[in-house]
Amino acid sequence: MTAATEPTTRPAAPSAEELAAVGLRYEVEGPVATITLDRPEVRNAQTPAMWRALGALGRAIGDDVRVVVVTGAGGTFSSGLDRRMLDPRGPGDGQESVVALLAGTDEAMADTIGEYQEGFTFLRDPRFVSIAKVSGHAVGAGFQLALSCDFRIVADDVAFAMKESALGLVPDLTGTQPLVEAVGYSRALEICLTARTVGAEESVRLGLALQAHPVAELDEAVATFAAAICTPMPGVASATKTILQGAQQRDLDTQRRIERTEQVQRFRAVAAALGQGR
Ligand code: CAA
Repeated sequence: MTAATEPTTRPAAPSAEELAAVGLRYEVEGPVATITLDRPEVRNAQTPAMWRALGALGRAIGDDVRVVVVTGAGGTFSSGLDRRMLDPRGPGDGQESVVALLAGTDEAMADTIGEYQEGFTFLRDPRFVSIAKVSGHAVGAGFQLALSCDFRIVADDVAFAMKESALGLVPDLTGTQPLVEAVGYSRALEICLTARTVGAEESVRLGLALQAHPVAELDEAVATFAAAICTPMPGVASATKTILQGAQQRDLDTQRRIERTEQVQRFRAVAAALGQGR
């Protein structure tokens, strides 16, 4: 994938009211956008409607946004899947429910989960850099949402836990690949199968989190880091992300082709900025 150099027409973002209805907030300040899970009364539990809105929001994020911060309101990042979605009686309010998937074929269930996953995969888009600002619990789907971001900057009260195995399930919201990349296969398997909590010090030591800060200093730390990422000229972060993302899975010839393809565009952008070139 080549980093975008030309502005692209994007679909309209869900309105603030539509986002609020599924427990989300979206704010843009200069080049930094913030997505907030905003259901603090249920510790920012996640629903299929929230995942669909996240996917729609991701497709709509404008090319002027260079950093996307994902966070949770009220001191908890996210308690994961809203447990009402696993209730055999359903959530009871007309909401799309995970249990309702059981009525479909295996293929239909997998296809729907694929749609849910789009609420997570957009955070890998090279158009912007994504940062999970995590305080408190990040459980199951919450852990996976944080794992979908390029960086996790955490508070010292962070509690990551991949709880799916305790419910007889597996992590399926795109968190497994970044978990293995961050901590290695054996440690990732242990974290998934024991469903244990990983705290701040261990997160940084394992490479799961980039930095840990006292709760009161987390906002400032993330703002400082986001500003640092916005320091190089526009396009550099996107091109670098395009090159590094998936580098371990590529052979050397493919990797160096991607490097030089991106560099050609960088040379042209730098020359244009200096008033040189074609
Ligand atoms: N779904 C729905 N409601 C939830 C919730 C969830 N995941 N997590 C918390 N809540 C609700 C509680 O029921 C409680 O509601 P009431 O005030 O009406 O009683 C309220 O939020 C506050 O909860 P707690 O008192 O438990 O809050 P806490 O701060 O003491 O603990 C917590 C926080 C450790 C996250 C704890 O709430 C918890 O363990 N929650 C459940 C976590 C869980 O099992 N999530 C599913 C993970 S698996 C997954 O996500 C599946 C997947 O992707 C396939």
